[in-house]
Amino acid sequence: MADKHAKLELGGQTYDFPVLEGSTGPDVVDIRKLYGLTGAFTFDPGYKSTASCESALTYIDGDEGVLLHRGYPIGQLAEHSSFMEVSYLLLNGELPSKAVLDEFEFTITRHTMLHEQLAQFYRGFRRDAHPMAVMCGVVGALSAFYHDSTDISDPHQRKIASHRLIAKMPTIAAMAYKYSVGQPFIYPDNRLSYTGNFLKMTFGVPAEEYEVIPAVERAMDRIFILHADHEQNASTSTVRLAGSSGANPFACIAAGIACLWGPAHGGANEAALNMLREIGTPDRIGHYIDRAKDKNDPFRLMGFGHRVYKNYDPRATVMQKTVREVFDALNVKDPIFETALRLEEIALSDPYFAEKKLFPNVDFYSGIILSAIGFPTTMFTALFALARTVGWVAQWNEMISDPGQVIGRPRQLYTGPTERDYVPVEQR
Ligand code: ACO
Repeated sequence: MADKHAKLELGGQTYDFPVLEGSTGPDVVDIRKLYGLTGAFTFDPGYKSTASCESALTYIDGDEGVLLHRGYPIGQLAEHSSFMEVSYLLLNGELPSKAVLDEFEFTITRHTMLHEQLAQFYRGFRRDAHPMAVMCGVVGALSAFYHDSTDISDPHQRKIASHRLIAKMPTIAAMAYKYSVGQPFIYPDNRLSYTGNFLKMTFGVPAEEYEVIPAVERAMDRIFILHADHEQNASTSTVRLAGSSGANPFACIAAGIACLWGPAHGGANEAALNMLREIGTPDRIGHYIDRAKDKNDPFRLMGFGHRVYKNYDPRATVMQKTVREVFDALNVKDPIFETALRLEEIALSDPYFAEKKLFPNVDFYSGIILSAIGFPTTMFTALFALARTVGWVAQWNEMISDPGQVIGRPRQLYTGPTERDYVPVEQR
C-alpha cells in the first residue's frame, strides 16, 4: 500500500489514487485505474507530465542540471570511463571489473562485421542519400539477416541482439559515410578499440595505413558516452513503444533512428552547426537573437533549450571542454567556436532566454568538435544514433524483462464528427 494518496474530484465523486515514490525525483500519481473507476482519461500531449514506465537506468534532474547513469554522474563517467564501460553499466546495472570489461569488449569486437550481403544493400541507395536514411534502412534490414536473435522471450537471444546492435552500429555508420563519398568500405580491425575502429572504418582508405590519433579517439569516445542514454526521450520512447508490441529488436531500433533524425531531437546538432556557420561572425549574433525572440519568426536558436533541462545541460559543459582538447590535438582554429562562445554569453544574459530557462544543450558544441575531426554535418545525427543504440537496447531489454509489461496504447480526446450516415457520392 502506498503511504501517499492523491484525491480527484470528478462528477461530484471523490476518487483516491496511490502516489508512488521513486528512489529519487518527483513522485508519480498512479492513475492506472482512472478509466476503470471514472470513465475519464488524462490529457497530456507530448507527455509533459506523464511517466510512461518504471526505469532504473538513467536519472535526470532538469532543474539542477544533473544526469546520472545507474547513479553515476555523467561528468565522472565522461572524465574517467570509456564508452564500452558505460555500455556495460547501462546494460547490466553495475560497473564491470577489469576482467569482465575485457570480456565484454572482446564480445563486442567479435560482432562488428556485417553480413556481406548487407554491403549489397547499400548500393540500392542514391549516393547523395542522407546517412540517417541509410542507417534507418540498413538497421531495419538487420532483422532479415539475424534470425537467431529475434526470440525476444529468450534473455540469451535478447543479449545477442543487443551485442550485435552495439557492435555493428559503427560499421553501419562508417559504411553509410564511405558510400556517400564513393570510397571503398573498410572492414573492422579487431586490434583497435571500439572508437578507434570506428574512426579507421570512417577515415581510413585501403591505400594507406591509418593511424588513430589518441586525443581524437578519446574525444570521440567521450562524445559517445555523452549520447549513450537520456531516459525517456522521444526516440527511446519510440523504441519502447515499437518494442511493446513484441516487434523484432532490429526493427525497433530502426524506429528509434527514424525518430532521432528530426531537427527537434537528434537532428539539432547538424542544425546547430549550420546555424553557427550562417551566423558566421560574432557581430551578426544580435540579429539572430532578435529573430529567435520574435514570435512571428519560426527561427529558434538550435542547440538551445531542452524539454527536461531548465538549467545548463551537464553534457554541454563536457562538450565545451572537449572542443578545446580536439582543437589543440589537431591544431585547428575554427572561428565558429568563438562565435558559439559569444552567442552563449549573449543569450544567457538576455532576459528572454533567462525567463524561459533556455540554456545550451548537448548539441550546441558537439557539431564544432565533429566538424574539426572531419565529419560532414550530415553524419552528426548518425553518430548520435550509433551512441544512443546502447541506451535504446538497454531500455528495450528493461521493458521486455518487466513482468508487468503491456503493449503501449495511448488514448485520445476525440474532436471529430460524431456518428452520421454515409451519403452516396451523387448526393454530395
Ligand atoms: N530558441 C528560441 N526560443 C525557444 C527555443 C530556442 N531554441 N526553445 C524554446 N524556445 C521558446 C519557445 O518559443 C517557447 O516560447 P513561448 O512559451 O513564448 O511559446 C518556450 O521557449 C518553450 O518552448 P517549447 O518548444 O514549448 O519547449 P519544449 O520543451 O517543448 O521544447 C525543444 C524543447 C524542442 C528542445 C526546444 O527548446 C527547441 O526547439 N530547441 C531547439 C532545438 C534543439 O536544440 N533541440 C535539441 C534538443 S536536445 C536533444 O534532443 C539531444
